[in-house]
Amino acid sequence: MSRTVYEFTVQSPPGDPITYDIERLADAMRIDDISRLSVESRGSQAIVTVYPDDPLADVHLPDPDLLAMDERGRVWAGLYHNGRRVWVRLYDPVSGSAQRLLLFGTTGAGKSTAGQILLAAMKRSGIAVWYADLKGGQSAPEARGNVDWPVFTQEGAIAQLRTYWDVMKDREERYARLGRSKFLKDRPDPLMYEVIDEANRLLEKGAPYRDEATYYIKDIGRTGRSLGMGIALFAQAGHLEELGGSDTLRSMLKEGEVLLLRWTSNLMRQLVADGLLPPGQKLAPIPKYAGATRLISQFEAEEDENRPGTQGSGYLLSGPYPGARMRFFRVGSALPTEGLDPEMLALYGDGPHAALEKSAWPVAGDAYTQRLDGDAAYTAAFARNVTVGPGTNPPPPPPAPGASQASDRLTITDRVQAALENNGGADMDAHALLTAVNADGGRTVALGSIRNALSRLRT
Ligand SMILES: Nc1ncnc2c1ncn2[C@@H]1O[C@H](COP(=O)(O)OP(=O)(O)O)[C@@H](O)[C@H]1O
Ligand SMILES: [Mg+2]
Repeated sequence: MSRTVYEFTVQSPPGDPITYDIERLADAMRIDDISRLSVESRGSQAIVTVYPDDPLADVHLPDPDLLAMDERGRVWAGLYHNGRRVWVRLYDPVSGSAQRLLLFGTTGAGKSTAGQILLAAMKRSGIAVWYADLKGGQSAPEARGNVDWPVFTQEGAIAQLRTYWDVMKDREERYARLGRSKFLKDRPDPLMYEVIDEANRLLEKGAPYRDEATYYIKDIGRTGRSLGMGIALFAQAGHLEELGGSDTLRSMLKEGEVLLLRWTSNLMRQLVADGLLPPGQKLAPIPKYAGATRLISQFEAEEDENRPGTQGSGYLLSGPYPGARMRFFRVGSALPTEGLDPEMLALYGDGPHAALEKSAWPVAGDAYTQRLDGDAAYTAAFARNVTVGPGTNPPPPPPAPGASQASDRLTITDRVQAALENNGGADMDAHALLTAVNADGGRTVALGSIRNALSRLRT
């Protein structure tokens, strides 16, 4: 079967950057399936590619062994529409630095699955990973036995962040004594990553340790790189303010590895306003489903709707082709499995995972050495007084767990407002709000109170 691909080079007068609307272009070209069309533009030039079918319908990893980091510190995570490899950088051997990694996308966009590819790549590359899943361990169940320290609670996450920060301060002092300015992987310490899935739940308005988490993430993002301590956040966010407010993530976004999966329009506008996308660079939106849509007359027979999803598709904004649609490998079993997914486990392989250097265990304390989670992790991490490097002032410990549930200090109106903001400003009806508010960890409220709060907010 021949497979014809058409490629057009478009040139506008120099100084006249090309702008376009991919949906209008597809319509004008009589292309009913937008996933067959790709446009990449740069200033006054553009390349338009028309495929006979979705080039990213099925992206397979030939062999899990291929996930290990190459000598340039990159891992192969998927493919671009034109068949080129997508490389995500985890380490820069030239500057001797770990990376900051951000993976954005709305619910169901494929963040956690892409995250498992990265976690497996980290394991296979000898990187010691501390992993917090704010969805209670549901995001990537197979990660549990394949990382150095997994936690699944707010308390565990803040304890882990604090411990990571303590280790960072320890390395900072040790390396300064050695007169080292660059990190050398495994000489003698392992490259490390703190990976936080559903980071939005840690950083959103009303989250119990929002301020402290913001502080640690900011500081780790700033100082961890040259100490071989990277950070990766997977988050769903309507806009950046939800992720710790202010400019926590701006520098991470500007200098880190940034991946954007299916998004909400708000987030897009902000990325553009922040100069994260080159001017004129427009990303074709990722629809939820691939394949053609057409109008169906009432006189036609009903069609069995079975369009493939687009999960794992997105853009590597920090890469060489920010406007080129890419897709992470399809990994794991095709159908849900009972218990852990054997194919997902195979991704990680049977080998051992790397661990924090023994010399730092006293600094990391019981929270790490006993791999604690929840209140126990919290108590172990904060009810002790480690002395870290001179001239460093750790922030005061966060409020004790349970003692002051942040959501209980908030009024119902505050909580409704937070739920609306966390939804990216999109409309929510009273029932959706009730579910969201009752899931924020605070006191359970009734539908009537939500309705009252809504009418207060409207006036
Ligand atoms: N690259 C991919 N190709 C095909 N299906 C995928 C891909 N990535 C994720 N999926 C599927 O999409 C669904 C949602 O993925 P998940 O990673 O849980 O999303 P998120 O964490 O963003 O909510 C899962 O059923 C998963 O199997
Ligand atoms: Mg997820």
